[in-house]
Amino acid sequence: MNLTLKVWRQKSTRHKGAFEVHKVTANEHMSFLEMMDVLNEQLIQEKKEPVAFEHDCREGICGACSMVINGQPHGPQSGTTTCQLHMRQFKDGDIIAVEPFRAKAFPIVKDLVVDRSAFDRIIQSGGFISVNTGQAVDGNSIPIEKDLAGKAFDAATCIGCGACVAACPNASAMLFTAAKVSHLNLLPQGEVESNQRVLNMVSQMDEEGFGMCSNVTACEAECPKEISVENIARMNRDYISANFSSEKTV
Ligand code: SF4
Ligand code: FES
Repeated sequence: MNLTLKVWRQKSTRHKGAFEVHKVTANEHMSFLEMMDVLNEQLIQEKKEPVAFEHDCREGICGACSMVINGQPHGPQSGTTTCQLHMRQFKDGDIIAVEPFRAKAFPIVKDLVVDRSAFDRIIQSGGFISVNTGQAVDGNSIPIEKDLAGKAFDAATCIGCGACVAACPNASAMLFTAAKVSHLNLLPQGEVESNQRVLNMVSQMDEEGFGMCSNVTACEAECPKEISVENIARMNRDYISANFSSEKTV
């Protein structure tokens, strides 16, 4: 298939960016990243600078492959990361626009690479359990209700990609933060620090400059792990109750 790519090029955070047009030939069995590799091989042969983009696992686990494809974070296939998106989703002659995730809290580093360290700082503010566990305990030693275990597991599938932020008109990080709060707060191991966790993580999220949630739910629609907005409602409940708790410690 012969494609026309409109790719965002930007030297650094300080430079102005613009779209650059390239022709590329791909086949339908390639992943989107493999098609980008073909483009980069072509650019290298032409003695031009390859397009900078992030990738690591290439199997939907790490969350690195952040790109907006034809206006959608991770492209047109729902529940799919860019690395698992195949070129069969496109057709011969298509014009494909490829841009970085855009949000004030995710400054562009170069081309399609953005700085998502704001997410790391949200995790550092409370996305952990601070108990000395000693030896690893047997997984079955704390019985956990099936329903809670399932909800916690679903929340824990968040790969921290940032598509929810890129999809949101307010660049809100509520879905990411809620998933990270939920997967610990729902479990007995995380309950002890649950008030402190939600207060600290929400406060760090605000400090990083993410916008507020206005219930558009574009985050859920574009999330490659299909994290439910139910987690946002749960986080809001936890946040309100933590604010009224006598154990409030920020
Ligand atoms: S909630 Fe979904 S879209 Fe947001 S960071 Fe996690 S996996 Fe990515
Ligand atoms: S490269 Fe790891 S999720 Fe896409």
